[in-house]
Amino acid sequence: MEHSVTVSDGGQPFRAAANRSVLESALRENRWLPHACSQGTCGTCKIRVLCGEVDHGRVDDAVLSGAERASGLALACQASPRTDLTVAPLNEAAPVGPRHPLRDHTGTVLELADIARRTRRLVVELDEPMEFSAGQYAELIVPGSGVARQYSMANPPFESRRLEFHVRKVDGGLATEGWIFGSLRPGDRIELRGPLGQFALVRPQGEPAILIGGGTGLAPLKSIVRHALSEDLVPGIDLYHGGRGQADLYDVDFFRALEAADSRFRYHPVLSEEQWDGATGMVTDVVLDDFASCRGRSAYLCGPPAMVTAAVKALKRRRMAPRSIFKEEFTVGA
Ligand code: FES
Repeated sequence: MEHSVTVSDGGQPFRAAANRSVLESALRENRWLPHACSQGTCGTCKIRVLCGEVDHGRVDDAVLSGAERASGLALACQASPRTDLTVAPLNEAAPVGPRHPLRDHTGTVLELADIARRTRRLVVELDEPMEFSAGQYAELIVPGSGVARQYSMANPPFESRRLEFHVRKVDGGLATEGWIFGSLRPGDRIELRGPLGQFALVRPQGEPAILIGGGTGLAPLKSIVRHALSEDLVPGIDLYHGGRGQADLYDVDFFRALEAADSRFRYHPVLSEEQWDGATGMVTDVVLDDFASCRGRSAYLCGPPAMVTAAVKALKRRRMAPRSIFKEEFTVGA
């Protein structure tokens, strides 16, 4: 069963299936609604239901309280329509993200390799290309469960049929220990959908960029680096990758070779718990040491929430304009 959804910003109403979230239906119709996690954890996708009724789905009170629900708010990534709807995004100031239609895809596992401590690279060749922006993510469907897990593409958009993901193992995790670190093999068929997310290099203003990633938060940054350099979108990129020890770093040779070949790019691996001949400490402290001022630069941050919060604070201290800071707080998909 389908309903019609009208977004208060104008535009044509779109059709929304009763068994899909408002967000998923909008993205499938190539209509933009603010969102980030698509899992009901960040609150970016709050909408006000001006007319009609929704099924709220699974909602955590900490993200959307009972009082908010009673006042007509809903999470677009969790709520599905019960009737025709008119909705207004609460986060209207959110930048309009990349516009690529959300699609279901199938593909074949080309590569599955251990690249760092508890970290695997998964490369999938899609049957049909996926249009996406550097920084976005896809949802991999765990076979037999229907459960979806979010992983950022690490490849640039011009490799639209060969998707690369970096996956961190979670003990007992259905998708990781049970599948990607368990039964999955090269040659296996895989289902996924994408692209999703508003963390993307969509409107580079021609200023140098600082990229800061923690752990597998490197994935979308690798996509952004390769895309930005190949399209000559920014005059310079400093990539910081933080890990606890050398065993947590990966693609070091790739980034060192890129740095040697392209004077626009600088690579800064940082270890927080191990002495070595490179930078040590918290990755954000190293950025503070390296830049007397970040004014006139932009930043792309992806990693655990504590790292992202610390990085935002550090960049603001160095006078980076808040509108130039783009962030993705990743949640490790079990
Ligand atoms: Fe809906 Fe994060 S809560 S996108």
